[in-house]
Amino acid sequence: MNDGDQRRYGPLGTALVIIPTFNEAENIASIVSRVRAAVPAADILVADDNSPDGTGKIADELAAADDQVNVLHRKGKEGLGAAYLAGFRWGIERDYGVLVEMDADGSHQPEELPRLLTALKGADLVLGSRWVPGGRVVNWPTTRKMISRGGSTYSRVLLGVPIRDVTGGYRAFRRETLEHLGLDAVASQGYCFQVDLARRAVAAGCHVVEVPITFVERELGDSKMSKDIFVEALWRVTAWGVESRANRLLGRKPAGPPGPARP
Ligand code: GDD
Ligand code: MN
Repeated sequence: MNDGDQRRYGPLGTALVIIPTFNEAENIASIVSRVRAAVPAADILVADDNSPDGTGKIADELAAADDQVNVLHRKGKEGLGAAYLAGFRWGIERDYGVLVEMDADGSHQPEELPRLLTALKGADLVLGSRWVPGGRVVNWPTTRKMISRGGSTYSRVLLGVPIRDVTGGYRAFRRETLEHLGLDAVASQGYCFQVDLARRAVAAGCHVVEVPITFVERELGDSKMSKDIFVEALWRVTAWGVESRANRLLGRKPAGPPGPARP
C-alpha cells in the first residue's frame, strides 16, 4: 500500500485513552485532567494493577465524578503488556474506534495527542516518536538515552522493522489494526510489549506513521524499568529476530494488512 493512499481509511470513531498504572498516586489526577482538557471527546481507561499506594482508589474517585473516566482493577502487578492487553479487550468490547496507549507519569504529553489522532486519519497505527527529526527527550540521563536508543536500534536492525522509536509507549491504534495483530498470542509482559506490537503491525503490512513527540521524564514517583524488564526485552527481541530470519530464509510470508474499515 502506498503512503499517500488514504482511501481505505474510514472515520476514526471515539478514542479510548488507556493509562496503565502501578504506584502513580501522585500523577493520576493530573494526567486524567490533562487528557480530558486536551481531547474532550475521548474516554479514559485507567488499568491499575492493585497499586499499593492507592492509585486505584484515586482513579475510582475520578471515575465517580466523570462519566468519561473508567477504571479497570487488576489483581496484581503483571506488567505493562498484560495491563494493555486487558485494556484493549475492554475497549474493543465497547466498540471504541481508536485505542491510545499513554504513560501515567506525564512523559507522554496529552497536549500532543491531537497531532497523533490527526495522523491516524491516514494510517493504521501512529507512534509518538522520540527518535525522528523534531522528537526530543527532556531530563533523561545519558545512560537512559543510550539504553533506549540502543534498544530501538537493536530491535530495528534485528527485526528489520523500519521504525526509529520501536520501544516507545505513546501510540494510537485503529481498532481494526489491533484486531489484526493476533493479541491472544502476545506473551510479552514488560516494555518489550511495545516492540512486539510494532513488529506484528509491520509484519501484517500496516501503514505505520511516526510523529515526533517531546518525551518529558517524570517529576514524581519512580520508573518501573528494572533488570527483569531489560532481560525479558533482550531475550524476546533476539528470539523474534532469529524467528523472522528463519521465516525469510524458508520463504514464509507474513499475514496480509488489515482489511478496509467496516461500513
Ligand atoms: N498496570 C501496570 N502494571 N502499569 C505499569 C506496570 C505494570 O506492571 N509497569 C509500568 N506501568 C505503568 C506505569 O505506572 C506508567 O504509567 C507506565 O506504565 C510507564 O512506566 P514507567 O516506569 O514510567 O516507564 P519508563 O518511563 O521507565 O519507560 C518509558 O519508556 C519505555 C522505553 O521506551 C515508557 O514510555 C515505556 O512505555 C517505554 O517502553
Ligand atoms: Mn515514565
